[in-house]
Amino acid sequence: MDWGLKNRLARIIKPHDKRGVMLAVDHGYFLGPTERLEEPRKTISPLLSYADSLMLTRGVLRTSVDATYPVPVVLRVSGGASIIGKDLSNEKITTSVKDAIKLNVSALAMSIFVGAPHEHESLVNLGNLVNEGEEYGIPVLAVTAVGKELEKRDARYLGLACRIAAEFGAHLVKTYYCESFEKVVRACPVPVIIAGGPKLATELDALKLTFDAIQSGAAGVDMGRNIWQSDYPVAMIKAVKAIVHQNMTVKEAHEMFNTLKDARKQVIRSNQKS
Ligand code: R5P
Repeated sequence: MDWGLKNRLARIIKPHDKRGVMLAVDHGYFLGPTERLEEPRKTISPLLSYADSLMLTRGVLRTSVDATYPVPVVLRVSGGASIIGKDLSNEKITTSVKDAIKLNVSALAMSIFVGAPHEHESLVNLGNLVNEGEEYGIPVLAVTAVGKELEKRDARYLGLACRIAAEFGAHLVKTYYCESFEKVVRACPVPVIIAGGPKLATELDALKLTFDAIQSGAAGVDMGRNIWQSDYPVAMIKAVKAIVHQNMTVKEAHEMFNTLKDARKQVIRSNQKS
């Protein structure tokens, strides 16, 4: 692997434990002003120092993250469809590698839509993006997107999509956690990280999801809504990070979350008094 590519990848998946915590805030590219991400800077700023890397579009990067802050950036470069449009799989590469280089990114990210109407285009896009990224030593994260069909999230489908992404040269794959997730990881020769998906009922559920994924071989998370849609997002990212990097159990991480939550509540209460 080229030195630059290896160096960039090491900013995302930390070499000491081969794991990483990526904070996903790219949702607006097809969902618009997602709940609690309406003002990106306000959502992102308190969480930045706890994330190993940040996944977002160039628009939010330029407007909502200070250029002087040294967080590794995973730039979403695919898009072209919206949640109210006909077909979420109809994406193209929307940001040039030249622009990504100007933004000093650590990786490029795009979605593939295996089994969807635009499967072919999305896979060819991936192959072409890997070709171009590798010319400049920039790794590519492939996102195995399911569009509106969340029920697709099983080991058979996700295993197929992750393996195809790796075969096309993706250096890192993001997918969803599912039952028998170890089969998905085993059949994918590059690191696999998990998205959190829509917000789960409780923080405990999201911590359990993180723990189970790590136990099944995931190299970390690329998590959004289950962090910043929590009432206590900082406590949540710290607890997720403790599972990923410190091998905390769900119980330990949940206790940590509750302690941080209580401390935060106290700060809010004393601010209200003064
Ligand atoms: C979806 O395609 C976006 O790329 C998100 O980055 C991804 O779903 C991860 O965010 P969340 O944990 O909220 O699902």
